[in-house]
Amino acid sequence: KKVVLAYSGGLDTSVILKWLQTTYNCEVVTFTADLGQGEELEPARKKAEMLGVKEIYIEDLRETFVRDYVFPMFRANALYEGVYLLGTSIARPLIAKRQIEIARETGADAVCHGATGKGNDQVRFELGYYALQPDIHVISPWREWDLTSRTRLIEFAESHQIPIAKDKRGEAPFSVDANLLHISAEGKEMEDPWVSPGEHVFSRSVSPEAAPDEPTFIEVEFKQGDPVAIDGEALSPASLLTRLNELGGANGIGRLDLVENRFVGMKSRGIYETPGGTILIAAHRAMESITLDRGAAHLKDELMPRYAELLYNGFWFSPEREMLQALIDKSQEKVNGTVRLKLYKGNVIVCGRKSPDSLYSMEHVTFEEDSVYDQRDAEGFIKLNALRLRLLNRQKGQA
Ligand code: ARG
Ligand code: SIN
Repeated sequence: KKVVLAYSGGLDTSVILKWLQTTYNCEVVTFTADLGQGEELEPARKKAEMLGVKEIYIEDLRETFVRDYVFPMFRANALYEGVYLLGTSIARPLIAKRQIEIARETGADAVCHGATGKGNDQVRFELGYYALQPDIHVISPWREWDLTSRTRLIEFAESHQIPIAKDKRGEAPFSVDANLLHISAEGKEMEDPWVSPGEHVFSRSVSPEAAPDEPTFIEVEFKQGDPVAIDGEALSPASLLTRLNELGGANGIGRLDLVENRFVGMKSRGIYETPGGTILIAAHRAMESITLDRGAAHLKDELMPRYAELLYNGFWFSPEREMLQALIDKSQEKVNGTVRLKLYKGNVIVCGRKSPDSLYSMEHVTFEEDSVYDQRDAEGFIKLNALRLRLLNRQKGQA
């Protein structure tokens, strides 16, 4: 048996690595991806080497992640349950895809992830695996082993000389998932939805109170629905999102405290920081407001919750997601132009938009005199729309 493990280098996946070798008796290939989580990857290599791994894959996937996953999702303005920007959901399909490719390259017959049996991530990883390699063997340690609590996990780590990182306050950390789009925190004190998290939970943004008293103005330029430049400077997808994260984080933007419905059926409380994504969705909506036809805009808005739920539930590699994506991508052909934004103490305020493909017509909308719109046409428009309302009213009068 040979297995490709999605390896972060952290405590959980290091324990899993050891467990695969000792209990499962298989050869382990590790795969560590840089998705912009902001951690050095070399320590992961060292740890894997120390644990006797011979095939170690470490890859910088930041550009692919933003270009092929994050940006297509933002074309849809996707939000799960009205607020969650899907920062973890969108990263899983890419990791799953690379794991399967590496399994093929190395002749491995199994893949393994470190998600628990209670969450969304197990579903996302495994739906990805099965969609791409139907006969793959999936190992999910959290559903299989007898290390059924964090305490027992830590005992196992200690007995196998696996180092245990403590948080800033010297405590075992809460559950974190980070990439270029967001950083999430769940568990520990956050499990009580009434308790608000301390400042130590946040790492990518200052609090709105601590943000500068002076606003920051920026211009974001779009081409076919994707952001391509900030303040006139063309940037690659990953560098653009990095820049938006810096700008948003410095202005206290993108913090979110929510209770969400997991696919497996339970509610969970999470704390998220998505500074760049929060700016981007506001900017993209503003860009669409002058470039999309009303019918097109309303249709994609109706479909958006479906699209977001598919991503949340792990169905990135599904025909229905691809169908919706084709529709969304088609809608973006004319979403070109520039949006001006004010970033101020946790707020993203749109203050201007312009486009070579604008559908906005000052000529038509002006409150001044115009020669293109005949106000008398509105009378028939309203009368026919009112017809059934009038008939209904008449019937009511008879009853
Ligand atoms: N609740 C969020 C989601 O389902 C975040 C999950 C974070 N995952 C983690 N392994 N810490 O998308
Ligand atoms: C986990 O269970 O591993 C993290 C939370 C989730 O996947 O929803």
